[in-house]
Amino acid sequence: MDHGLPPRARIAGLGHHLPPRVVTNDDLAQLMDTSDEWIRERTGIRERRFVDDGTSCTDLAEAASRKALENAGWEPDDVEFILFATLSPDLFFPGNGARLQHQLGLGPIGALDLRTQCTGFVYALSVADALIRAGQYRRILVVGAEVQSRGLRMDDDGRDTAVLFGDGAGAACVEASDDERGFLAHSLHSDGANALDLCVRKPGSLQVPFVSAEDIAAGDTAPHMNGREVFRNAVRRFPEAIQEVLTATGTPASELKLLVPHQANARITEAVRRRMELPEEKVASNIERYGNTTAASIPIALSEAVEEGRVERGDLVCLAAFGAGFTWGATLLRY
Ligand code: COA
Repeated sequence: MDHGLPPRARIAGLGHHLPPRVVTNDDLAQLMDTSDEWIRERTGIRERRFVDDGTSCTDLAEAASRKALENAGWEPDDVEFILFATLSPDLFFPGNGARLQHQLGLGPIGALDLRTQCTGFVYALSVADALIRAGQYRRILVVGAEVQSRGLRMDDDGRDTAVLFGDGAGAACVEASDDERGFLAHSLHSDGANALDLCVRKPGSLQVPFVSAEDIAAGDTAPHMNGREVFRNAVRRFPEAIQEVLTATGTPASELKLLVPHQANARITEAVRRRMELPEEKVASNIERYGNTTAASIPIALSEAVEEGRVERGDLVCLAAFGAGFTWGATLLRY
């Protein structure tokens, strides 16, 4: 690059895709002891999307990626590397990155899966930025996609988690920047002391075999969550991560055009908004319509915000996430 600025990466285009089937809180109340009122009051969720039979997590990612490629004005062959964040891959292994490479009809480019759950997309953007700054690649496709619905326990014993999650995908085309737009700072964290507070225990290599009929009957293949511990940590870690990237760049929170938090729970988002002293219009929220789509939630919310004109080229945007691991982090970027 010869513009005199240090090399950095920027978002060239965005896309998102939600499966068409809407599942309302009342639909879930037919399957388990819950209610629309309880779910809305505790989480802010009214409905979410679930895939139909035959649609895979990679299919959702492919649809979001094709929209992002079009939005960026890239041909598929422009993609030099794939970063795929998901906790719900099609297979235990291999990861979805290679499957997406194949479904997009790309050459044998590199593909890396990231397993940092709700923080996956923030981690993936940071890796893309680093690879581009290092000069290894110029154009990277970054995807967050989830099919949660097939892993949830749709009965009374699973009601604390089943009502939270939904399916969807979002993608970003990330390219070497030749102007002042791009990623300004990242903060990435983890604390495995809380690994079992939000996890899927089976299948896993801690046991022989990875998964058994008893595990399935016991509900161990569904998410297990200590909701209060997740909540307590989330409302602390989100603001910490956001403040880190603001402080690193000397940016007052008031200069943000939009904060795009991972959509975990409307109450968590509201607590973070108050802590950062941001007005409601500066904080993205679509959890009412999609629930928590884990690694997909940030790219879906950012892509929607751009479509709606809430974010324009050159605006300062902060992305922030907290989730299983525990992992948390934030990215500050000039869109
Ligand atoms: N419908 C109705 N009742 C439910 C329910 C549901 N879907 N899920 C749980 N309950 C019940 C509980 O069994 C409990 O009953 P009890 O008092 O008889 O034991 C009661 O509701 C209250 O449970 P509690 O855990 O105190 O509720 P809460 O106010 O903490 O809200 C969460 C529960 C899950 C909404 C909340 O803890 C939360 O949002 N945690 C963070 C979750 C999250 O964001 N996870 C993803 C992170 S990326």
